[in-house]
Amino acid sequence: MTTSRPSNSTLSAPELPTPTPPLSSSLPPPVPGLSSADSAPAVASSSAAPAPLSKTKRDRQAHNEVFNRGNYHGYYGFRTDCVPDARLQLLEPALFEGRNVLDLGCNAGKLSIETLVHLGARRVVGLDIDPVLIAQSEAARVAAGLADDARLSFVEADFLPPGFFDSAPARALLPPGERFETILLLSITKWLHLHAGDDGLLVLFHALAGLLPPGGALVVEPQEWANYKSAARKAKDLRPVFAAIKMRPDFEPYLGQEGGECGEGAGLVLERKIERDEGGFSRPLCVWRKE
Ligand SMILES: C[S@@+](CC[C@H](N)C(=O)[O-])C[C@H]1O[C@@H](n2cnc3c(N)ncnc32)[C@H](O)[C@@H]1O
Repeated sequence: MTTSRPSNSTLSAPELPTPTPPLSSSLPPPVPGLSSADSAPAVASSSAAPAPLSKTKRDRQAHNEVFNRGNYHGYYGFRTDCVPDARLQLLEPALFEGRNVLDLGCNAGKLSIETLVHLGARRVVGLDIDPVLIAQSEAARVAAGLADDARLSFVEADFLPPGFFDSAPARALLPPGERFETILLLSITKWLHLHAGDDGLLVLFHALAGLLPPGGALVVEPQEWANYKSAARKAKDLRPVFAAIKMRPDFEPYLGQEGGECGEGAGLVLERKIERDEGGFSRPLCVWRKE
């Protein structure tokens, strides 16, 4: 886990996605419980040798594999330019005021910064796997006049491997004795699920529930199941896990008390579900509370 220093990128200049080196070195370990049959590609293969790909197709394939974490570099240019973000405006201010907030998959830092500046969070930590996005977050922090503000930190980290939140660097994200009271898990579950499978996502849900004190909240904006297929079609590395997935968004039994065929629930209580549609996709905001 490393922190990056500012780059010249800013949030206000939407740019086309810029490829970065592949992130495969930081992939989580293989998903336990996947047999070789589970690993069969979801897309049928022909016995004939495949025709060579054109340069355009090769470029597109390489692009899809570099961005197979949802690590888009111009995300807020094509998603929303509302300030604060439309999703944050729908949530209770009490989820943020005076609280320590963890923004998982913070991308270019927009929501982390808005949570601090507009919603009065006490401290905000943004984590992202992509170093370019952490550099963009640092640049956005400077642009927001928060360069030396100790209440805000951006950290490059892959939080998906089991045990991450028990590690010494993760424990050092907050001053001793403090805990995260609100965790944002927005527009990222699809990517986590496609990399770690059911087992890995369930382990993460339990870890996040364990991080929260009583009264703490996990805000989840799950991507809908229909979106997974195109992600797996574009990036062949994701197909074996995709083919084995049984859990479905919105993950209600798995975040809640009930559990299901894939395992025990994380024991949170669904306090509020805000149905939303964005660009034709169902994107609910689910507020899960630790009792
Ligand atoms: C589609 S973006 C969503 C950004 C932001 N949460 C929002 O909703 O506006 C998903 C982000 O999660 C990050 N990400 C995906 N997998 C991750 C992982 N295992 N650890 C840390 N960050 C991850 C990606 O790099 C990307 O910036």
